[in-house]
Amino acid sequence: MEVVIAKTQVEVAKRCADICCTLIKKKPNAVLGLATGTTPLPVYKELIQRHRADEVSFRQVTTFNLDEYLGLAPDHPRSYRTFMNENFFEHIDIDIENTNLPDGNAENPLKAGPEYEERLREAGGIDLQILGIGTNGHIGFNEPTSSLGSRTRLKTLTEITVRDNKRFFKSEEFQPRLVITMGIKTILEAKRILLLATGSRKAQAIADAVEGPLSAMCPASSLQMHPNVSVIVDNAAAAKLQLKEYYLWVLSHQDYLLERFGDPR
Ligand code: F6R
Repeated sequence: MEVVIAKTQVEVAKRCADICCTLIKKKPNAVLGLATGTTPLPVYKELIQRHRADEVSFRQVTTFNLDEYLGLAPDHPRSYRTFMNENFFEHIDIDIENTNLPDGNAENPLKAGPEYEERLREAGGIDLQILGIGTNGHIGFNEPTSSLGSRTRLKTLTEITVRDNKRFFKSEEFQPRLVITMGIKTILEAKRILLLATGSRKAQAIADAVEGPLSAMCPASSLQMHPNVSVIVDNAAAAKLQLKEYYLWVLSHQDYLLERFGDPR
């Protein structure tokens, strides 16, 4: 995997936004896979700014989010649909009809996964998937021991994840324990993947994902099997990487390689 160690959270966001914008320039009707949570917020901010500066248009872009809480209606203030509308979609020129999240309010949640997979197939699959990582190594809400062959489905959150995400809910508010999440196999079908992490709380999970054994105990380690993953982290999240110096060394050759051979992607 390509490991990019950025100095700050802002640089992580800028690098991620650069890759999104280059893709959209090349393919205006690109399909983006998006995440919620704290990590991608600076990316959405950066993309909104670039859109306002007329540097990028999302008019033809389609998006698929990784996950949604079960039992929260789309207009619920804590639903991931509301999160995405408020933090990204309402500020860009995307057609809201082209933004997709799993149906957390489905009458039959067991059908919501296969239906989402069908929508994804119809859209031609994801060109670029943005991922965060849980402190326990989850991607999407594929918690440790999720099948590496899993598809979009109903999943029970671990207590760690419920605790980590408590900050988004008021103390008296109902916090769902069940979600519908893209599966690991679904995620691995994206053409390109960017795994983002910032802050020291993510350092162990990043070390396990990049340098640990391939194991369902760290779902993000499944990304080792994907041929086109960039792990973009700040210094704090990179702190436990054993080969940190090597990744920086590789990065220092990047401009030379780009100049000589172009971007293979
Ligand atoms: C969110 C998602 C999760 C988060 C992860 C990190 O859609 O799929 O995997 O990316 O829990 O969350 P933050 O960024 O809030 O630390």
